[in-house]
Amino acid sequence: MSKALDTVLDYHQRTKHRFDRYAAGPGGLDWANQPYPFRVFDGCPQVLLPLLGEQSEPAFSDLYVPHNIAPRPLTLPHLATLLELAYGLSAWKQYGDSRWALRCNPSSGNLHPTEAYVVSAGSNALPAGIHHYRSREHLLEQRCAFTTAHDDLGLPPGTLLVGLTSIHWREAWKYGERAYRYCQHDVGHAVAALRYAAASLGWRAQLLEHWADDAISALLGCDRAGDFGDAEPEHPDLLIRIDTGATGADLDPDALLAAARAGQWRGRANRLSGRHGHHWPLIDRVADACRKPCTAALDAPTPVRPAPVASQCNLSAAALIRQRRSAQAFDGSTTMRSRDFFRLLDMTLPRPAVAPWDAIRWTPRTHLLLFVHRVEALPPGLYLLPRSASATNQLKSTMGREFSWQPVNDAPAHLELTRLLSADAREAAQTLSCHQEIAADGAFSLAMLAEYGNALQTSPWRYRHLFWEAGMLGHVLYLEAEAAGLRGTGIGCYFDDGVHDLLALSDRSFQSLYHFTVGGPLTDDRLQTLPPYAHLPKR
Ligand SMILES: Cc1cc2nc3c(=O)[nH]c(=O)nc-3n(C[C@H](O)[C@H](O)[C@H](O)COP(=O)(O)O)c2cc1C
Repeated sequence: MSKALDTVLDYHQRTKHRFDRYAAGPGGLDWANQPYPFRVFDGCPQVLLPLLGEQSEPAFSDLYVPHNIAPRPLTLPHLATLLELAYGLSAWKQYGDSRWALRCNPSSGNLHPTEAYVVSAGSNALPAGIHHYRSREHLLEQRCAFTTAHDDLGLPPGTLLVGLTSIHWREAWKYGERAYRYCQHDVGHAVAALRYAAASLGWRAQLLEHWADDAISALLGCDRAGDFGDAEPEHPDLLIRIDTGATGADLDPDALLAAARAGQWRGRANRLSGRHGHHWPLIDRVADACRKPCTAALDAPTPVRPAPVASQCNLSAAALIRQRRSAQAFDGSTTMRSRDFFRLLDMTLPRPAVAPWDAIRWTPRTHLLLFVHRVEALPPGLYLLPRSASATNQLKSTMGREFSWQPVNDAPAHLELTRLLSADAREAAQTLSCHQEIAADGAFSLAMLAEYGNALQTSPWRYRHLFWEAGMLGHVLYLEAEAAGLRGTGIGCYFDDGVHDLLALSDRSFQSLYHFTVGGPLTDDRLQTLPPYAHLPKR
């Protein structure tokens, strides 16, 4: 076993929550040193972005229809829309003297470790260079001005790159060693959030899986130690290519990196916490073991599936994306319509040229174990939705427990939804999700079972991809829950091996990587909701 694989497997085992002890964390919260939620680079030229306002077009359900939305030109307002709908603020919440921002992308503990950058070849929309997005002010800070001629940048016209990085400290401040997992979940949510926002403009978005982390780090300036000083470092996650027009021309990573090296860099990162009471060397070790080298580009074919179950939602994409919230509690009584349930599950399956799954090119490795509580015409119980053709047999051969494996005949035929057993699954769901009532009081909750063993053997860095896929799944569930008139919540706190024991999994070839719940939400009237950008002067 390679040392990197050893480190990753060890990290995963060590950061499991167990019934008799939670993964190592700080114990109490050091409120005086809570990380400031916004990264700022002082001393950069800024580009103020216009705000979107009300938008009735396109409809949310249209985002899933391939080639349905005519590509919008690459202008500053359209780029601003991309960033606002992906990573902009969606509201401020206030309780007493405390006020905190919510964003279009969710985040474990609302700590938002993910930072976003835009790499532009220069156009009317944005000067050529590398720009950091500041969601609080909805502006771009130009970290690097390219000095290389436009034609030598290696970035085709009409193409942008969006880069994501993570500040692990933000999550570690609250969650300790398990925080690295949450940072990866958040990256997955951020990928899907970007893909949906791009789809609303008729733009394509695709993860550039082949790039090495070191190259991403150099391009986005994470390795410029002098610009960070004693500020918390950023770890390179990924690059996403955004094509705004018809061009599919290749980009040239070497030319782009040379341009970044030769460019004029500005700005100094802010420090987020005055003091770091704890250090979590395990996070640095697993991050190091997961460093991705340059690899061949992937191209797994996406199966063509019948058209999805039609959506009943007539909200605009912008309205639905901005209204997404996590439910804090559910009413324990709302029944989900089976049609909405099947639709929501259907949207977790990749289809060619359909958001958000066309952003990644690997075959799905994460499958859904559902705890159905209140879904019309479905007996409560445990259900399984495999997301790839081979998963059912693999799962069957690993599960040591006898199940009935009854196909759900009312579900569309291409959805291989199977009932494992009929039972009141509420107590099990709640217990396994760290005793959180939200897992029992919704219409259903679920655990995401990831193909864990084989995926990692030769490429330990794929550990991160498993979480990214789980985060993307969570994002689809959040938006589809809203589209069904319900609400969802991601659940990062769960007892890993408790889930595996429920199925009597014979080995570690599947691991539960994320939980989620959907239902009729209860609102907390003590909290005030304020508009996202009322604090900005008129633009
Ligand atoms: C990866 C992840 C894990 C989460 N885990 C939990 C959880 O265990 N329990 C919970 O109540 N909320 C959980 N949440 C919801 C977050 O607290 C929520 O996204 C955050 O407070 C921001 O609020 P918003 O989603 O309404 O924008 C999780 C969210 C994410 C993205």
